[in-house]
Amino acid sequence: MSPAENPDPTWFTRPAARDWSCSALDPHRDAARFHRELPGYRPTPLLERAEFAAELGVGRVFVKDESQRFDLGAFKILGASWAAARALIEREQAPPGGTGLADLHQLVADRPATLVTATDGNHGRAVARMARLVGAAAHIVVPDVVAPDAVERIAAEGATVSVVAGSYDEAVDRARTVADRTPDGLLIQDTAWPGYDRVPAWIVQGYSTLLTEIDDQLDAAGAGGCDLIAVPVGVGSLAQTVVAHHRSADRDPARRPIVLSVEPDTAACVLASLQAGHSVSVPTAETIMAGLNCGTVSALAWPVLAGGLDAAVAVTDGEARRAVSDLAAAGISSGPSGASALAGVRAALDGSASAARRSGLTPRRARSLDDGVIVLLSTEGRHR
Ligand SMILES: Cc1ncc(COP(=O)(O)O)c(C=O)c1O
Repeated sequence: MSPAENPDPTWFTRPAARDWSCSALDPHRDAARFHRELPGYRPTPLLERAEFAAELGVGRVFVKDESQRFDLGAFKILGASWAAARALIEREQAPPGGTGLADLHQLVADRPATLVTATDGNHGRAVARMARLVGAAAHIVVPDVVAPDAVERIAAEGATVSVVAGSYDEAVDRARTVADRTPDGLLIQDTAWPGYDRVPAWIVQGYSTLLTEIDDQLDAAGAGGCDLIAVPVGVGSLAQTVVAHHRSADRDPARRPIVLSVEPDTAACVLASLQAGHSVSVPTAETIMAGLNCGTVSALAWPVLAGGLDAAVAVTDGEARRAVSDLAAAGISSGPSGASALAGVRAALDGSASAARRSGLTPRRARSLDDGVIVLLSTEGRHR
């Protein structure tokens, strides 16, 4: 669709996406088992907040609180840990499945490894933590827009940190070079490009633990599923997991939720790509939603998002800031990237364009979103 046909630069919707199907994200059960064995694992809370349901005029609102993911305060370790484990196992051609931290430690003791990645913050810290857990070295590349305290948190995991003058995409290029030049370097990148998709595919599998936790928690809360799920988006790997989880052919098509992606208006590469009808890179600028500051969609995520994402919205720093403080007032620690999920749902259901936007968001399970269940993925906590 050309921009002229879609005049709203902050919004895209395509209800037909709900009919799109894909195969299940196997072997995500192995990933969930692996996560359960990590020290300190427990499902992060799914918190119901009636005040947001009342504000948005919907049935129930739940917030998945990733501030409590281990002691890292973000969901990213789910992907980084599983991908690092699989990469180490594959390097030694060891059998997959049932391999815990002790086995990975032994693999690294027998043959050293340096885990390398580029990051806007959370993924790099998670890769550095995983390296520490298995006795590997870590080299993390960050663009210079990343805040000094985020760089310190990565270094505190024992990683070497290189700061590059440039964007996230440029940091990814540098990390590729670092991994190539480092003896026993293993690139654990959370975005894919032609020729590099095995590791990002494991990362996407790793994230599915978050979705299975939510399924169980919605059942326990008597909600029995959801009607809309809002996902903060950087390169789109997490959104790929969400779409693949809810559009997999083994799930009931009559219960498929609307999947809404939320990006900063300064880095809305998924929105721009959906509007262009093909993957496009966008220039990025500074944003408080640091984890979402990415200009290019993962090549692995793009076909899944192009097929199965129902709607995409871009939000401003001001909208994210308001969401951070409203979530804090509701007792939930949420950083700007995580809180963007609330900002995005507000822009879709509650903003000045809400009537038009809402008309593109017809649920299947509930009669309308007025009775519907909404899940906000608050993907990170607020760092103090
Ligand atoms: C807190 C937070 N939320 C969401 C995302 C988006 O994930 P993805 O880049 O897979 O779209 C990130 C990515 O780093 C993040 O740090």
